[in-house]
Amino acid sequence: MTGLPGDPTPDAETARMIRVDHAGEYGATRIYAGQIAVLGRGSKGDLLRHMQDQERVHLATFNGLIASRRVRPTALLPLWHLAGFALGAATAALGTRAAMACTVAVEEAIDEHYSAQLATLDGREPELAETITRFRAEELEHRDIGLENEAEKTPGYRLLSAAIKAGCKVAIRISERV
Ligand SMILES: [Fe+2]
Ligand SMILES: [Fe+2]
Repeated sequence: MTGLPGDPTPDAETARMIRVDHAGEYGATRIYAGQIAVLGRGSKGDLLRHMQDQERVHLATFNGLIASRRVRPTALLPLWHLAGFALGAATAALGTRAAMACTVAVEEAIDEHYSAQLATLDGREPELAETITRFRAEELEHRDIGLENEAEKTPGYRLLSAAIKAGCKVAIRISERV
């Protein structure tokens, strides 16, 4: 495979992947923290904690990769710290269905993102690819939990979902670079 001039080298590309995935998993733990702050005592509390536990494993794994591969983390972690929590808490304040709609939208965006990364790796970095494959399956499990818990019955579901997905895609693009 020959790259075009200006394309990142494979190492730079891998570093970018680790940077953005670390940022995303960090944001995910913050979204669930925001949801749990509002809904943690309710009937969906255990479900939210189950998903947060998995996100913590995802984050710990990418924390390890950031260190072992000497990747610079995104400079925007403080922003994702606040924005993730705010998104989780705001959707949870609208109710459990809206919280689940947020999960579905985020996980759909992450599924597309991880799938695109696996296509880009195309057999390179087998260990990283295996990690992404495993995490992607859990993100899809989270999406399914959201759907099973009536995400789509949220008033304004389509608009809410489209807005959150668009926000995730912007966050992904920025976190690859900054
Ligand atoms: Fe995750
Ligand atoms: Fe997730």
